[in-house]
Amino acid sequence: MIEIRNVTFHYLRSTKPALDSVSLTIGDREFIGILGPSGSGKSTLALTLNGIIPNSIRGTFSGEVIIRDPKTGKVFKTTETPVPKLSTLVGLVLQNPESQLFNMTVEDEVAFALENLGLPREEIARRVEWALKVTGLKGLEDEFPPNLSGGEKQRLAIASVIAMKPSHLVLDEPTSQLDPRGKREVLDVIKRLNREGTTVIIVEHDSRFLFRNADRLVVLSGGRIVLQGEPRKVAERVEELVEIGVKVPHSLLLSRALGLPPALSPEEFPSPTTRRG
Ligand SMILES: Nc1ncnc2c1ncn2[C@@H]1O[C@H](COP(=O)(O)OP(=O)(O)O)[C@@H](O)[C@H]1O
Ligand SMILES: [Mg+2]
Repeated sequence: MIEIRNVTFHYLRSTKPALDSVSLTIGDREFIGILGPSGSGKSTLALTLNGIIPNSIRGTFSGEVIIRDPKTGKVFKTTETPVPKLSTLVGLVLQNPESQLFNMTVEDEVAFALENLGLPREEIARRVEWALKVTGLKGLEDEFPPNLSGGEKQRLAIASVIAMKPSHLVLDEPTSQLDPRGKREVLDVIKRLNREGTTVIIVEHDSRFLFRNADRLVVLSGGRIVLQGEPRKVAERVEELVEIGVKVPHSLLLSRALGLPPALSPEEFPSPTTRRG
C-alpha cells in the first residue's frame, strides 16, 4: 500500500507547485492509471512514490508518502528511508530505457542492482532467470543492451527493476518511445505482473490502454487530482477530460457523439445490425 498525504512539491526556483495538496491511497494489487496533460505533474508524482522526490531531487516538499511492505507489514516514510531501500519496495521504470541501462550484457544489467543489494549468488541467478522469463527476454542473456529493439530495451529496464522484487511498480510513460509491437509487448508484461500480485501505477499519455485495463484512473491537472474513479465512471466525464487536455480514446468520443453509453473500446459498440433490402 502507498499512502500519499497532502503532498505539495515545488521544484527549486519554481514559483508554482508541480504537485499541489495531493492525497491518494493505493491499495495492494491495484492497477492505477495516471492521466493528465503535459506538465500536470504526472512525472513528479511518479518520482515522489519511491522517494527520489524529495531525497534526491531538491525543492520544497510538504506532506508525506508512506509505503507499507505487504510482505512484512512494515511501514516506511519516504522522507526517512534511504532511496536504495525504497527501491526494493517501489520499482520505478522511466520513459527512456536508455537512461536506465549501462551494463555490457542483458544478464549483467539485471544482476547489477541485485549484486549491489549483496544477495547470494544463487539467489541472484534465480532472480535474473525469473525476471528475463517474465519479460520474454530469455535467450538474449549475452546481448549488448544497446543492440536490442526499443521494446526489448524497455522490457530489460522492467526486468532489472522487478528483479529487486518490489511489491509496487511505478512506470512513467514506459511505451512512449515504442512502435505498436513494442508497446504491446511492454503492456502485456505489465498486465501479467499485476495479475501475479504486483501493485501497478502507470502514467500513460495515450489513455486507451488505461481505460481498458486500470482498476482506477487518477486525473491530474495543474498538479492537483481533479478526477478519479473506475474507468467507467471517469468515462462519463468525457467533456471534462477533453477540456483538461487529456487524450481520450476515440471510442469514447464516438459513443458520446452518437448518444450511446460510454464505450471504453471499439468492441463495446453494439454490433451493427444487418440491413435488410
Ligand atoms: N526539474 C524540474 N525543475 C523545475 N520544474 C520542473 C522540473 N520538472 C518538471 N517541472 C515542472 O513541474 C510541472 C510538472 O511537471 P511534470 O511532473 O514533468 O509533468 P508531466 O509529467 O505531467 O508532464 C511542470 O510545470 C514542469 O514544468
Ligand atoms: Mg512526464
